[in-house]
Amino acid sequence: MTLAVAASHEDFHDPDFSATLMAWQAEHGRHTLPWQNTRDAYLIWLSEIMLQQTQVAAVLGYYQRFLHRFPTLASLAAAPVEDVMAQWSGLGYYTRARNLHKCAQRVVAEYAGVFPSDPLLLADLPGIGRSTAAAIAAFSSGGRAAIMDGNVKRVLARVYGIASYPGERQTEAMLWRRAEALLPEQGIESYTQGLMDMGATLCTRSKPDCQRCPMQPRCVAYNTARTAELPVRKPKKISPQKQAALLLILDAGQVLLQQRPASGIWGGLLSLPELAGHGAAESAEVASVDDSTLLRAVDQFGVMESCERLSTCTHVFTHYKLHIVPYRITLAQRRMMVAQPEYVWYALDKLAEAPLPAPIKKLLLDLARK
Ligand code: ADE
Repeated sequence: MTLAVAASHEDFHDPDFSATLMAWQAEHGRHTLPWQNTRDAYLIWLSEIMLQQTQVAAVLGYYQRFLHRFPTLASLAAAPVEDVMAQWSGLGYYTRARNLHKCAQRVVAEYAGVFPSDPLLLADLPGIGRSTAAAIAAFSSGGRAAIMDGNVKRVLARVYGIASYPGERQTEAMLWRRAEALLPEQGIESYTQGLMDMGATLCTRSKPDCQRCPMQPRCVAYNTARTAELPVRKPKKISPQKQAALLLILDAGQVLLQQRPASGIWGGLLSLPELAGHGAAESAEVASVDDSTLLRAVDQFGVMESCERLSTCTHVFTHYKLHIVPYRITLAQRRMMVAQPEYVWYALDKLAEAPLPAPIKKLLLDLARK
């Protein structure tokens, strides 16, 4: 009972979608690709794996050469993996080739060399996910299962006006339920091919050809002028901000540098000594370090003569922003540093060649010029 209620508030049933798509596929879809017009699961499986992350045009040559070298599943399973990798060389995403070989061996060992037709069994094999399993089942034995790749997500997001990011877990789950509810009773092959063809030829990401699209009259994105906004793009993460107070200690034409620990950012490079106690920041408005902390930090290197806070510079890393606050310090007298080999006095006029992180080198060279 509960199930029936849950299903009724989410009625994705829409037979007009598949009818429209299949009629369009029959007239305008692709019918002569080398992996079409066959029910041979080996030929279909190979094409689907090659097409997982690669476009049709790039796959065509590889597909023919691969089949010339490995004409049957048994020949592929029996070959050394190096030969498989060599045939794959240039196609990219090489895990696909390793899994392809493993999958061939498993089908030989567990299914006597005949691919199973059940999408659930197919999806248990190496390199075959839920969507690829559905495509193989549909094309090789008319199995009724839904495919779901970037193209399908785009078509569904536009036709049904789905305004949440398809990569988000709940949206993706909803897309799968929708895709399953849309499957036709008959003609899964042309329906599945039609979805692929529409996504690749009409409903493209940046310039969809809505004038030729059979879904135009019923497409929510088209009818609300939102084809450019749908599907919703991945929301940008706001990157955390950190701050670091760096000591630019100058004396006699030299600057004090410190070797960074081997692990962590800038591992092993030289950099400016960093004051402990920095950390998370709310914004580029970084509070000043108090005088006694600075005095104590500098004292191990010499007697401080002057100290000036310079303007903050911000460096953007892939995962966070770092606000660097340099303190320009001159010494009245340098102290010998005996037991601290990670510190070096470095001539200002040699900085261009120093093994420094790029933003630190830029900061130093800018300051050295002043
Ligand atoms: N992309 C993934 N599978 C495909 C297929 N069978 N035909 C064309 N493009 C595809």
